[in-house]
Amino acid sequence: MINKTVLVTGGAGYIGTHTVLHLLLAGFKTVVIDNLHNSSQIAILRVKKLAGDFGNNLSFHKADLRDRDALEQIFVSTKFDAVIHFAGLKAVGESVQKPLLYYNNNLSGAITLLEVMAAHGCKKLVFSSSATVYGWPKEVPCTEEFPLSAANPYGRTKLIIEEICRDVCSAEPDWKIILLRFFNPVGAHPSGYIGEDPQGIPNNLMPFVQQVAVGRRPALTVFGNDYNTIDGTGVRDYIHVVDLADGHVAALLKLDESNIGCEVYNLGTGKGTSVLEMVRAFEQASGKKIPLVIAGRRPGDAEIVYASIEKAGRELKWKAKYGIDEMCRDQWNWASKNPHGYGSQEDSTD
Ligand code: UD1
Repeated sequence: MINKTVLVTGGAGYIGTHTVLHLLLAGFKTVVIDNLHNSSQIAILRVKKLAGDFGNNLSFHKADLRDRDALEQIFVSTKFDAVIHFAGLKAVGESVQKPLLYYNNNLSGAITLLEVMAAHGCKKLVFSSSATVYGWPKEVPCTEEFPLSAANPYGRTKLIIEEICRDVCSAEPDWKIILLRFFNPVGAHPSGYIGEDPQGIPNNLMPFVQQVAVGRRPALTVFGNDYNTIDGTGVRDYIHVVDLADGHVAALLKLDESNIGCEVYNLGTGKGTSVLEMVRAFEQASGKKIPLVIAGRRPGDAEIVYASIEKAGRELKWKAKYGIDEMCRDQWNWASKNPHGYGSQEDSTD
């Protein structure tokens, strides 16, 4: 038994739930805070069940990070060894339409969290950043030292929070912060019991493909087939969400090392896959045909993005285990069992 307690903000969301499950199974006591804006409490109930006896080490608070009093109360009642910060808005298009909403939610949330952590002497943090901070990279694979940029307010919030974390560590060297730059998380837990359940029209490729496969949408629109890639479609580094969850446990263990300051790691597979390759792998896994409509490029999209995975391998002793076939298999397992996400069926808690 590790006997450590971790606060997970946004722990009811897609990546959060998978990470919370891994933390519980690794022996951590886990407290989730989530405002349930784009997530469901059913997901928390399912994580509890999947964790078996370890599920007793999970507790949940429905609250917004900007609610300082609520956050204070949580820190008064529990002493945390570390925090993993996922909570935030993440729809790129919406962030362009409503920049203040994004700056208020993502930045105020992060600042309030850091302030309350400091006030309670908890100075270990793992923050969910994104490969979006590499913009349109001049070359691949992207190493952690690449120049950073933001093409939209959502990306800018990630970049600014990274900078805030660096400044906090420089000012107060007793802070230890790990910034994890996720590439493209896909798939679901192999049980098919938890997975991604976006509200409204999905922005990202695989949730959209999944909704086409279950008949909720007629066809996938492919954004551009004139890129300089294997088949003209955009290339990304898709990573199984279970591998990503594992990466968080590795980062948490790294925080126990002395003198780490503020460190950044890519979490990807180091392999690029095109949109059409991904669709083909999903068709294979699901036995479903995905009708395609070829359209123009989506503004702000890069041509090829994939990660250099050396630093995470060397320093976190972490490497992704799964390939796109397993990602598609598990995504389909989740989608076919939950065609309407967590709204698919009544959940019993027994
Ligand atoms: C997007 C965001 C990025 C964010 C990441 C994870 C943009 C411009 N970038 O990255 O900031 O960090 O999600 O939330 O939105 N595609 C289609 N049809 C679709 C959807 C996507 O062809 O309906 C293509 C895209 O053009 C791209 C690939 O699929 O080539 C992956 O797209 P997506 O899943 O949205 O991820 P990113 O664009 O990498």
